[in-house]
Amino acid sequence: MKSVFTIFSVVVFTTVSAVNSCPPSDRAALLAFKAALHEPHLGIFNSWTGTDCCHNWYGVSCDQETHRVADINLRGESEDPIFERAHRTGFMTGFISPEICKLTRLSSLTIADWKGITGQIPKCITTLPFLRILDLIGNKISGEIPADIGRLKRLTVLNVADNQLTGRIPASLTGLSNLMHLDLRNNKISGPIPSRAGDLSMLSRALLSGNLISGSIPASLCRIYRLADLDLSMNKLSGLIPPCLGKMAVLATLNLDCNLLMGKIPATLLTSAVGNLNLSRNALEGNIPDVFGRSSYFTAIDLSHNKFKGPVPRSLSAASYIGHLDLSYNHLCGRIPAGEPFNHLEASSFMYNDCLCGKPLRAC
Ligand SMILES: *[C@@H]1O[C@H](CO)[C@@H](O)[C@H](O)[C@H]1NC(C)=O
Repeated sequence: MKSVFTIFSVVVFTTVSAVNSCPPSDRAALLAFKAALHEPHLGIFNSWTGTDCCHNWYGVSCDQETHRVADINLRGESEDPIFERAHRTGFMTGFISPEICKLTRLSSLTIADWKGITGQIPKCITTLPFLRILDLIGNKISGEIPADIGRLKRLTVLNVADNQLTGRIPASLTGLSNLMHLDLRNNKISGPIPSRAGDLSMLSRALLSGNLISGSIPASLCRIYRLADLDLSMNKLSGLIPPCLGKMAVLATLNLDCNLLMGKIPATLLTSAVGNLNLSRNALEGNIPDVFGRSSYFTAIDLSHNKFKGPVPRSLSAASYIGHLDLSYNHLCGRIPAGEPFNHLEASSFMYNDCLCGKPLRAC
């Protein structure tokens, strides 16, 4: 009886310790990752000691079944008590070690808002077959997005905003068939939007503003049924606005401000699902289409700083809702219509045109 009990307790003991321990190779990879970083204020890596990296290592979690490291979640701005105690947000220098690519079961890698991390995105990151989330926002990462990023077939979130990335958007990126959220804002990315961007059929947010992206807006984007938020502002995009953008089922926010776009506003955009439209600071011309109606619902519509001429469209008063409207700095002329929404708009919405008159400007 005693020996049975002994065997039983040995089995229980080994099972428990297997659950608790992370593979030595994962632990070594994490320690190499830590060694390339320097976090002077909070001590987030102080807990990275001992053999069991799956328990109580700050920001690390493991898969329940494989006991392999599955998530690294290190955010420099968070509600965690570690930040409240220190009364500050995070700051970290160093670089992301390629040793991280030895964590071959990694599903999510978040190293966000540390402000001082430099170096490149390790190229080998594209060999992590289970990676779903790559979030490196808010550092000083330079170099290019790895050319073969398209290998990450499970990737749903790619967020590298607020860094110093250069180079082009890799053509292979359009092969990320599970990508839902793409955020490349505020880098120094140049070159065109790949013409096959429309292949990203799961995409709901595409945020590319604040780069040096040139060329025209590919009409293939209109094929992305789920696209709700398209932000291409503050780039060097030229050419025409594809009229099909006004035919998209759920596109709610379209920011194309601060580019080099020309031609007319597609009339489709003014009666579409889009409720936030910013076309400010381009070289758009012609009349503003007089097509507003029941299906026009705009929280904000900003057409300022273009070359529009002709009158303020009378049909604006037929729109369901116009919250904020800005037509300033164009070449509009004529009498501003009366009634809603004009009653609640201020003079600043109409200023700096060629010859507009009537409320809220001077009388005609
Ligand atoms: C539209 O974009 C311009 C230029 O980037 C910006 O100044 C303006 O505030 C934006 N308008 C709205 C309504 O957000």
